[in-house]
Amino acid sequence: MGTSGKVIKCRAAVAWKPNAPLVMEEIEVAPPQKHEIRIKVIATGVCHTDLYHLFEGKLQEGFPAVLGHEGAGIVESVGPGVTDFKPGQNFKYLNHVCVSVGDNVIPIVVSQCGECRFCKHPKSNMCEQSWKSLSTGIMPEEDSRFTCRGKVIFQFMGTSTFSEYTVLNQIAVAKICDDARLDRVCLLGCGVATGYGAAINTAQVTQGSVCAVFGLGAVGLAAVMGCRNAGASRIIGVDINEDKFGKARSLGATDLVNPKKHSKPISEVLSEMTNGGVDFSLECVGNVAVMRSALESCVRGWGVSVVVGWTDVDDFSARPIQLIAGKTWKGSLFGGFKGKDAIPKLVLDYKSGRINLDEFVTHTMPLDKVNDSIELMKTGTCIRTVLNVSSK
Ligand SMILES: NC(=O)c1ccc[n+]([C@@H]2O[C@H](COP(=O)([O-])OP(=O)(O)OC[C@H]3O[C@@H](n4cnc5c(N)ncnc54)[C@H](O)[C@@H]3O)[C@@H](O)[C@H]2O)c1
Ligand SMILES: [Zn+2]
Ligand SMILES: [Zn+2]
Repeated sequence: MGTSGKVIKCRAAVAWKPNAPLVMEEIEVAPPQKHEIRIKVIATGVCHTDLYHLFEGKLQEGFPAVLGHEGAGIVESVGPGVTDFKPGQNFKYLNHVCVSVGDNVIPIVVSQCGECRFCKHPKSNMCEQSWKSLSTGIMPEEDSRFTCRGKVIFQFMGTSTFSEYTVLNQIAVAKICDDARLDRVCLLGCGVATGYGAAINTAQVTQGSVCAVFGLGAVGLAAVMGCRNAGASRIIGVDINEDKFGKARSLGATDLVNPKKHSKPISEVLSEMTNGGVDFSLECVGNVAVMRSALESCVRGWGVSVVVGWTDVDDFSARPIQLIAGKTWKGSLFGGFKGKDAIPKLVLDYKSGRINLDEFVTHTMPLDKVNDSIELMKTGTCIRTVLNVSSK
């Protein structure tokens, strides 16, 4: 019966402690328990939030852990009570598509239990079940199915895709069509869905509007694409790294601004460019000073500014007059998408060409090279690296 019901030994990149390179280890992955699914991870993106937890979050707890939360794979086996997912233990590649009896799936960091107050409310994707692990960055210890060298290894953001196998509750797994490239649609597990949804769901960018996107990494570029698909007439990309400008232009940015090249505050620069401020701004950096600038760049009366960048160590501030004057300041988690419902549709949008994912993948490498991919992200020399996790 193959691997079903057995402990699997496989390769994973383990973060033993903060601020240190990940170490390739053999780990043990327990079989899925009630309502759980064991996934063979095929490919995973590397998101800035992985770095944040490892290097920038000042976190000393939650280690050792397996990071990675932007993955795609196939269902290897299922635990009792799982009826919606089909397992299958072998696959082969055909024109970049993974052919398997097992369902193709994308783990989701923001689960959708379908039962809680937040899942039932049309305005929120903050499922109570996922928020429990998101607030600490890791799953509770008793939910982890990983061990290594006799120690429990935490599952970062409930997903842990820097491993050949991972185990998730079925509420955190989206089933997708059989014929999408997993080394592309994995980006819908976090970065691209986050930025795209922040524009279309949270900001609700309107036809003909003027938008500004701060930070042109994968999240910001996806926000640019969202503004474009929503019909914005002008999209101003803002980044201190001009290497990002080419991709931004090809995904829909009409103007590009480097704040370092101006002696005035960036909000004044944008205000002058747009006759009083933009209709929508999106902060995709994770820097509280930039969040303030993004708010200040909006037009008074109706401007909407969305915080997408991640930080939970610094407070932010703004003059109340900004809001009194009629601006709205809001935030967006995973683009406001309810993952189980939305991801399969986003995969179809990729297949139809409405969403571009290929443009985001600047580097591809095996999981063993994960530390190189982290270096690329730190130095701003990539948009997304896709790690090929399992090749057979
Ligand atoms: N809200 C969510 O659900 C969610 C989900 C995923 C990622 N995030 C967060 O989104 C942010 C972006 O993620 P990413 O993977 O695209 O990161 P990234 O590092 O690839 O991109 C960040 C970009 O911001 C630019 N930048 C840095 N300082 C700047 C400044 N002062 N002004 C303008 N641009 C500046 C960088 O040059 C870079 O291009 C991170 O904070 C990440 O943690 C949030
Ligand atoms: Zn829920
Ligand atoms: Zn992410």
